[in-house]
Amino acid sequence: MGQRVINFNPGPSALPLAVLEQAKSEMLDFQGSGMSVLETSHRSKNFEAVLDSAITRTRRLLGLDESYHVLFLQGGASMQFAMVPMNLAGDKPVDYVDTGTWSTKAIKEARICGKQTRVVASSEDEKFTYIPEKIALNPDAAYLHITSNNTIRGTQWRSFPDAGNVPLVSDMSSDIFSRRFDARRFGLIYAGAQKNAGPAGVTLVIIRDDLLQRVPKELPTMFRYSTYADNRSLYNTPPCFSIYVCELVLKWIEETVGGLDRMEKINEEKAAILYDYLDGQDFYRGTARPDSRSRMNVTFLLPEAEMEKEFLARAADAGLCGLKGHRSVGGLRASIYNATTIEAVRTLVDFMKHFAKR
Ligand SMILES: Cc1ncc(COP(=O)(O)O)c(C=O)c1O
Repeated sequence: MGQRVINFNPGPSALPLAVLEQAKSEMLDFQGSGMSVLETSHRSKNFEAVLDSAITRTRRLLGLDESYHVLFLQGGASMQFAMVPMNLAGDKPVDYVDTGTWSTKAIKEARICGKQTRVVASSEDEKFTYIPEKIALNPDAAYLHITSNNTIRGTQWRSFPDAGNVPLVSDMSSDIFSRRFDARRFGLIYAGAQKNAGPAGVTLVIIRDDLLQRVPKELPTMFRYSTYADNRSLYNTPPCFSIYVCELVLKWIEETVGGLDRMEKINEEKAAILYDYLDGQDFYRGTARPDSRSRMNVTFLLPEAEMEKEFLARAADAGLCGLKGHRSVGGLRASIYNATTIEAVRTLVDFMKHFAKR
């Protein structure tokens, strides 16, 4: 095997080594079945056990009971931008907080679905570098939608808004399972798995039971949340292998890391190492406002954009990859999701110091 690099990719991103090793060891013979999960029927006992465990572990980690359905869909988080308004809006207006890129896309899709879509707070005035504090809440809204972590701008909600009786909906694609939070305050949570929960190809949707009453009967079957809830995500063939890897990741968080509190502590420590370094020097410049900084995606600039190519090339020589900022904003970004180790972040800071000196 060649040398593994230190992977700061924004998604798909690093997976815990122990998860990759287990998947490798079970690749040819999954639990004595004589075949890979890739070759196993989604209706087999073996796969159903994987699915059940993924559901149970998700509920346990997030402190949810059976009044929440844990669903595994395809189409990415981007499909949820449309499924949320299609399923939950009815005839009511829908409210969104715009914190950039992904929220902006979600707003666009709600409008395409013909819903009266209100932007009740936005940080566009400062290029989405912060999380807005004041939200114009409307009690008549079908839901309030936020994006808990902006993967591209490197901003993250520290605490979540109180929407009263209006269900809170969040895109948590880039920070689910990274910290402890009160998931019972949400009506619906969705997350493309490929950052903190597993590989690409599966989208986790967690929906409170009462919201299923809202699903319009005229929606095509595959676009209804109720289809997935009624059939335990087995109405049609689900992305079995992706769900299997998610289950391994959830098991790793619970049994190896020791749960979400511990995970959060590690993530805090990693983010502090990077931000403390950024704050203590004047070569690099962090781009997110300090009170809104993400613990998952650390975005920063070099003194001159022309230096980026050299930074990335030297980083690659040092075995550090995935540090290029999103093409829409440029700059640099270190994605330090759950699977990134404290050691990896220290190595990055050492490299940054060295580069700055040169
Ligand atoms: C916060 C957030 N939402 C949505 C998406 C889109 O996810 P997908 O590619 O699964 O549609 C991304 C992708 O990076 C993201 O970071």
